[in-house]
Amino acid sequence: MSTPVPGIETVGVVGAGQMGNGIAHVFAVAGYDVVMSDLEQERLDAAMEVIDGNLQRQVNRDLLSVEDKAAALSRIKGTTDLADFGSCDLVIEAAAEVEALKKDIFRALVEVVPERAILASNTSSISITRLATVTDRPERFMGIHFMNPVPVMKLVELIRGIATDEPTFEIMRAVVASLGKEAAIAEDFPAFIVNRILVPMINEAVYTLYEGVGTVESIDKAMKLGTNHPMGPLELADFIGLDTCLAIMNVLHDGLADTKYRPCPLLVKYVEAGWLGRKTGRGFYDYRGEEPVPTR
Ligand code: CAA
Repeated sequence: MSTPVPGIETVGVVGAGQMGNGIAHVFAVAGYDVVMSDLEQERLDAAMEVIDGNLQRQVNRDLLSVEDKAAALSRIKGTTDLADFGSCDLVIEAAAEVEALKKDIFRALVEVVPERAILASNTSSISITRLATVTDRPERFMGIHFMNPVPVMKLVELIRGIATDEPTFEIMRAVVASLGKEAAIAEDFPAFIVNRILVPMINEAVYTLYEGVGTVESIDKAMKLGTNHPMGPLELADFIGLDTCLAIMNVLHDGLADTKYRPCPLLVKYVEAGWLGRKTGRGFYDYRGEEPVPTR
């Protein structure tokens, strides 16, 4: 079991979706007390079930003992009230990839968290410097970007805003190490490193489908077997969420003003249809039956 970083005992996580519940999971396993919030109790209940199931996968693989699983679960407290973040030393926002929403959350957080608390965002693309401006502590504000599935993926991107101070950066580096993960340091430019490279590749896969170069199956097979990727790009897009992929392409397109980042119209159409991938049961594949089948 890892040891929490001194001075960081209670960690708040805003949002109990696929990233938020994964972040709560890894902090609880590492021995931190976690407060996880969402708008509705049902979402918190669903997140606790997901965490329970994912902890059990780790128990099944002998990565965790049954006692450690129970201890981790007991460290996570769900809440629908941000006022419960009053004892947090670090708060990580993991809401949807919408800048206005994230800013509203940070505006609300500064009213309730202690002055000492570090604020961080799990944004996968939005400027850390810009998000920090709505808080009273841009020097204690960081980007900490986890990969999905959080309990499995080794990497965390760390991003400093223009005003982030050195002690905050060093604490966050230590926090990542305490989770048993590796940090890659990225500068604060649109989509940082992983998504600057990954999401245009996914967008290109959607263009490959849109232009009829390959079918869903042949595109995914080509990249899985031809480049040893664990998932094909369309399968991965469904896994990440098509809304998130589109939001990241828009951040790249707007932020870098280069037409090479234009989102594929087919990606836009899937998102407009509400076919957001695994989380809604349909995307490039239909997940509602026994086995996923391509939707076109
Ligand atoms: N929690 C805990 N354990 C998990 C888990 C979870 N959420 N998901 C999978 N596992 C474990 C399983 O128990 C399994 O272990 P065993 O094989 O020993 O049973 C192991 O991980 C492998 O899982 P599966 O057998 O279910 O399936 P798999 O072998 O196909 O692996 C995968 C699943 C790890 C997700 C793999 O397909 C993979 O690495 N895919 C690519 C993921 C990726 O690229 N993620 C980054 C996305 S980009 C991102 O996140 C950034 C962004 O902002 C968009």
